[in-house]
Amino acid sequence: MAITTTMPEDVAVIEISKLSTRFGEHIVHTGLDLDVRRGEIFAVIGGSGSGKSTLLREIILLHRPNAGSIRVLGVDLQDIDDAAALALRLRWGVMFQHGGLFGSLTVLENIGLPLREHRTLDNAAVDALAAQKLALTGLAPEVGAQYPSELSGGMMKRASLARALVLEPELLFLDEPTAGLDPESAGEVDQLVRKLRDGGGLTIVMITHDLDLLWQLADRVAVLGDGKVAGIGSMAELAQMDTPAIRKFFDGPRGRAAQEQGQQKPAVPQSELIGSPSWKPK
Ligand SMILES: Nc1ncnc2c1ncn2[C@@H]1O[C@H](COP(=O)(O)OP(=O)(O)OP(=O)(O)O)[C@@H](O)[C@H]1O
Ligand SMILES: [Mg+2]
Repeated sequence: MAITTTMPEDVAVIEISKLSTRFGEHIVHTGLDLDVRRGEIFAVIGGSGSGKSTLLREIILLHRPNAGSIRVLGVDLQDIDDAAALALRLRWGVMFQHGGLFGSLTVLENIGLPLREHRTLDNAAVDALAAQKLALTGLAPEVGAQYPSELSGGMMKRASLARALVLEPELLFLDEPTAGLDPESAGEVDQLVRKLRDGGGLTIVMITHDLDLLWQLADRVAVLGDGKVAGIGSMAELAQMDTPAIRKFFDGPRGRAAQEQGQQKPAVPQSELIGSPSWKPK
């Protein structure tokens, strides 16, 4: 059963309550609560092993938590049946850390795959829509004919993003969108995420360690620590908190440098920042 009602801006598109996850004796989440609002760029940070990827896997129906509730786009994931799960999967796009592209398909075939599987369109229409997304992510048309093994890391991320967007999702999940990229390619992915946000309507949830992305793009950031959300807010708000799990991100030399940069030197013209709730003039 697909729920296609449109929701007002301030409604939570992801609502997580009292989430608990463990692997054997190892407790990952214990009573974690979290809401993501429609239209925001929401980031999840936390130390290695703090349960970020596991949380993402639970939200996208790849892993079942031990207890607690997760609602996505108004649908409770507990006891969801196959048909409802499929309907929900068609409403979000996921860009996996390592791209997740099929090596035996060209880039254009990879991007068009969700359309072939879930829409009744002829080949020409699939290719046209896939080519549109290829262009949106800034890849040259000839890249469509290449295979994933022929792409650079940055191109792979873009192609993966194009595939995540091809069904026009309401929710987009990005797992480390800039990890492993050189600064220039990372900057290009930044620009792309900004473009998607400015396009309107899309809610973006990203896991990232990229301080530029966090300071310049995230509306709100949740810090995972001790199995819970140790703190949540804009980066500027988090920078003021003194919880140890949060301080770690701001007190190292890299954290301080990015903080100064993020606060003093917005990387985009001011006109583009109007309407971004996290940005405040200094
Ligand atoms: N399938 C699994 N089986 C057993 N343990 C797991 C499994 N998946 C995750 N874990 C454990 O759960 C904890 C959280 O893992 P997770 O991958 O969510 O961390 P993370 O915050 O994404 O870390 P990183 O920043 O290193 O990617 C880790 O201790 C990990 O070893
Ligand atoms: Mg991870």
